[in-house]
Amino acid sequence: MTEHSSRREFLKTAGATGLSALTAGMLTGCGALHRRFTKPGIELPRTHAREQIRIGFVGLGGMGSNHIEHLLRVPGATICAVCDIVPEKVARIQDLVEKTGQPRPTGYSKGDRDFVRLCETEQLDIVYNAAPWEWHVPICVAAMRNGKHAATEVPAALTADDCWKLVEYAEKFEKHCVMLENCNYGRFEMMVFNMVRKGVFGEIVHAEVGYQHDLRAVKFDMQGEGLWRRAHATKRDGNFYPTHGLGPAAQAMDINRGDQFDYLVSMSGNARGLALYAEKTLPPDSPLRSERYKLADVNTTLIRTVRGRTIYVVHDTHLPRPYARFGLFQGTNAIYGGHPPRVHIEGRSPGHDWEPIDKYADEFEHPLWRTDAAQRATGGHGGMDYLENLRLIQCLQRGEPTDMNVYDAAAISCVVELTARSVAKGSEPVSIPDFTRGRWRTNSPLAIVNG
Ligand SMILES: NC(=O)c1ccc[n+]([C@@H]2O[C@H](COP(=O)([O-])OP(=O)(O)OC[C@H]3O[C@@H](n4cnc5c(N)ncnc54)[C@H](O)[C@@H]3O)[C@@H](O)[C@H]2O)c1
Repeated sequence: MTEHSSRREFLKTAGATGLSALTAGMLTGCGALHRRFTKPGIELPRTHAREQIRIGFVGLGGMGSNHIEHLLRVPGATICAVCDIVPEKVARIQDLVEKTGQPRPTGYSKGDRDFVRLCETEQLDIVYNAAPWEWHVPICVAAMRNGKHAATEVPAALTADDCWKLVEYAEKFEKHCVMLENCNYGRFEMMVFNMVRKGVFGEIVHAEVGYQHDLRAVKFDMQGEGLWRRAHATKRDGNFYPTHGLGPAAQAMDINRGDQFDYLVSMSGNARGLALYAEKTLPPDSPLRSERYKLADVNTTLIRTVRGRTIYVVHDTHLPRPYARFGLFQGTNAIYGGHPPRVHIEGRSPGHDWEPIDKYADEFEHPLWRTDAAQRATGGHGGMDYLENLRLIQCLQRGEPTDMNVYDAAAISCVVELTARSVAKGSEPVSIPDFTRGRWRTNSPLAIVNG
C-alpha cells in the first residue's frame, strides 16, 4: 500500500467517527456555527460570519505568549481557554487575559494530553497551538475532530504522512487548518508579493530563501526550546524549519494556485556546531557533552516546480552567524534581495545597480501595511505577528477562506521529511506530493488583501 493510499484507508475507517464528532460538535453548539458549504475534499471551508471569535490556546511558552499578547489587541478575539503542561504558565496567561478586561479563560494543565479535554469541553471557534513540533498534529486533529478550526505554529507537521492527515481531517470535518507562517506578513515579503501581482517582476523564475539563525544558545537553554528542539537534532537530518522561507516563496509562485512543488534534492554537510558549542560552554561532567548530532550545520535544498521554477532553500542554525532571513525573488523583469531589502527593476533602476526597496514604497507598499492596523503592529518580529493574527481572525469573522490553508501548510511542511529522505539517499530527487490532488491547476490565485 502506498503512503497516500494508506492515508485514504485511514480516513475511511475514521469516517464514521468523523461524522459522529461533527454531529457532536453541532449538538454542543460549536459545529452549529458552521454550515456545510461544500462537499468534503472539493473546496475550502467557508463559515458563517461572526463578530466574536472564541479561541483556545495550547502551548504558552515563548511564541504562545507572543500570540496571546497580539490576539488580545485584535478586535473581536476572545481567549476562552488556555492549556500548557506547566500550571504556572497557564496561571500567568489567565491573569494576563483577565487584566485586559476579558473573562478569565479556563485553564487546562493536567498532563500532556489535556488539550484533548479542552477541545472536547470548550465552545470555541478555533484552537491555536504553539507547542513543540511533535504536538502540532495531535492538537490540530483534536481540534478538528471536535468541530473547531485549527491554527498551528511552524512547521505544521514533520512527516508527509502527517501532512496528509491534516489535509484529510480538514476536508473530512470541513475545518480550516492554518499554519501560522508569520513571514508571509513581513513588510518586505508583502511588498514583493504586491509587486509580483502588479507584474513588476514579469514572470517569477527563481527564489532563494532560508532560515539562518544561530540557535546554539537556544538549543542548549535549560528552558523554552532547549527542552525539546535540540533533541530533534540528535535523531534526524534534513531541513527541519523550511517554512519561513518557503511561505513567502510559495505565495509569490502561486503554489497550490497555478503551480505546484514537483520534486526536491537536498544535501547536508557535517554536523559540528552543536558538539563544539557543548564542549566550549558546558562543564566537563555535563552529560550533554556526549550527545551526538545528526542534523547538519548547513542543509541546502533545491525545489523545482511543475511549471519549471526553482527555489533554493537553506537551513543553517548551528554556526556563529548574524541572523538572516534572506530572500531573493528573481523574475524576467526584476529582482529582490533581502537583508538589506533592495530591488533592481529593468527599465527603472540605473545600470545593473540595486536600489533600496523603500524607494518604491509609495507605489508598491502592500495595502495591509498601509492600514491603521499596521501602525498598531509595532512588536512581534517587526509587526508581522500582529498582522498574521489580525488577518486570521478577520477571515473567521467574515466567513472567508484563510490566506494560508491546509494545502499550503502540507506542501511546505512535508519538505521536513522529504529533505531527510533525499539526504539519506545521496541527494536523490524526491517527489513532493500534490496535496490538492490536481486542484492547483484551477484554484484562484491568492488575492491582495487589505485588512
Ligand atoms: N513563527 C515564528 O517566528 C516562531 C518563533 C519561535 C517559535 N516558533 C514555533 O512555535 C512553537 C513553540 O516554540 P516556542 O519557542 O514557544 O517554544 P517553548 O518551549 O517556549 O513553548 C512551548 C510550550 O509548549 C508547552 N507544551 C509542551 N508540550 C505540551 C503539551 N503536550 N500540551 C500543552 N503544552 C505543551 C511547553 O510547556 C511550553 O510552554 C514551535 O513550533 C516553534 O517552531 C515560531
